[in-house]
Amino acid sequence: RTVLLLNGPNLNLLGTRDPGQYGTTTLAEVEARVAALGRELGVEVVCAQSNGEGEMVDRLHAARGWAGVVMNPGAYAHYSIALRDAVDAIEAPVVEVHISNVYAREGFRHTSVTAPVAAGYIAGCGVPGYELALRAVLGRAAERGT
Ligand code: DQA
Repeated sequence: RTVLLLNGPNLNLLGTRDPGQYGTTTLAEVEARVAALGRELGVEVVCAQSNGEGEMVDRLHAARGWAGVVMNPGAYAHYSIALRDAVDAIEAPVVEVHISNVYAREGFRHTSVTAPVAAGYIAGCGVPGYELALRAVLGRAAERGT
């Protein structure tokens, strides 16, 4: 069984980008932590990061039929209808993650167009939110019998 960990734009800069909001953990460390938890829970975690909306859509399509997806859409969460439609189109449960508490930030971050079609949503828990999301994805997959 395979889960996709998909990070969106600017998350390649994790660790040095605005540490007050996002902490000092790098993307490589996030990926290693989620992959390690996956091994513990008996799933393979495939990691991808893209700054491009189209590539993220392609990655979601490729995960069709997988156990699920942990996705931090970055800023695309706030306006990408293409990403929303891709989440809606694949059968796999997608749990959306935001490291920061987007509701404590600018108003434009309070809207997520992807969250209404996601299987779950985690924000403001920091990097551990990714691990919570992996557990949530597997819970959703179990409910669906996939
Ligand atoms: C983010 C929140 C978004 O508003 C922002 O554009 C990001 C990161 C987060 O993880 O907190 O790039 O998704």
